[in-house]
Amino acid sequence: MSDLLDWKNLGFSYIKTDYRFIAHWKDGKWDNGELTTDSTLHIHEGSTALHYGQQCFEGLKAYRCKDGSINLFRPDQNAKRMQNTCDRLLMPQVPTELFIRACKEVVKANEKWLAPYGSGATLYLRPFVIGVGENIGVRPAPEYIFSVFCCPVGAYFKGGMKPSNFLVTDYDRAAPHGTGGVKVGGNYAASLLPHELAAERKFADAIYLDPKTHTKIEEVGAANFFGITRDNKFITPLSPSILPSITKYSLLYLAKERLGMETIEGDVYINELDQFAEAGACGTAAVISPIGGIQYGDDFHVFYSETDVGPITKRLYEELTGIQFGDVEAPEGWIVKVD
Ligand code: PLP
Ligand code: COI
Repeated sequence: MSDLLDWKNLGFSYIKTDYRFIAHWKDGKWDNGELTTDSTLHIHEGSTALHYGQQCFEGLKAYRCKDGSINLFRPDQNAKRMQNTCDRLLMPQVPTELFIRACKEVVKANEKWLAPYGSGATLYLRPFVIGVGENIGVRPAPEYIFSVFCCPVGAYFKGGMKPSNFLVTDYDRAAPHGTGGVKVGGNYAASLLPHELAAERKFADAIYLDPKTHTKIEEVGAANFFGITRDNKFITPLSPSILPSITKYSLLYLAKERLGMETIEGDVYINELDQFAEAGACGTAAVISPIGGIQYGDDFHVFYSETDVGPITKRLYEELTGIQFGDVEAPEGWIVKVD
């Protein structure tokens, strides 16, 4: 096993790798883009990304397989979501071909940073688009940058597949008809304080309720929520202010098609947690992180256990990660090889 890093003990922190991809949009079109070793961006002081939050990002991972080959998991879905986000912020869409080519080039150029099979670590890719160029008014930027960099990562929530506890916050991360359903930095700026307050009380992160009525679960920090009911249904919240998680939609498919479960996207009321035998947070960074318990006001609700992982959560984790690392047959189109 390569000993470049302590692969088994990586957390989710920035580690500088060798190459990143950068493309520029000007006069109505993207250039071809190229790899660079320069990790610092030099942008105009009037850039809309700096003043008006005209920027967005994505997150996906590269996985080392047993045979040494490299998988990307559903990168077309990240490209599509980034296109939706760009539409919402009046930024030019990054074509799927450019998005996937950039991801592949970055992985290939940084292959030494991709953990060996079996270590559990992956290479996290961070594509982003920012509005740049001379400007001062509240209007779309005259120019844009699309870039992708990568970092080797391990577990996002400390403990990974060990259960974590979460705190329901009174703050909202997004408004009812705002930008919660797209991946813009402003949503994450709004989440910094609630996260900090949760962390001060030793919780892994904040749980956000729906911004309109504060009665239904929406997001678990930077991940979607799912619950397994006592009668074996897979339930996950449905709301326009939730980020449509690619992991969540993958789990909805796998729960139904591979585990034979009934699946529901619907309301998850915070005062009806008793219906769940198990619960988890899911996302690219989070993968599947079992939820031990949720603190809501003075009540602490424990799901399966604060220390052990429930059987369905475990089964879903094995199916999902098995597909991502190439050990389990993937539904058509889910895996894109980096070659
Ligand atoms: N919800 C939020 C707020 C996120 O930041 C993320 C991460 O991307 C997710 C959910 C999970 O989405 P995905 O599974 O596409 O990574
Ligand atoms: C991801 O899972 O890719 C995310 O975007 C979460 C993140 C903000 C660290």
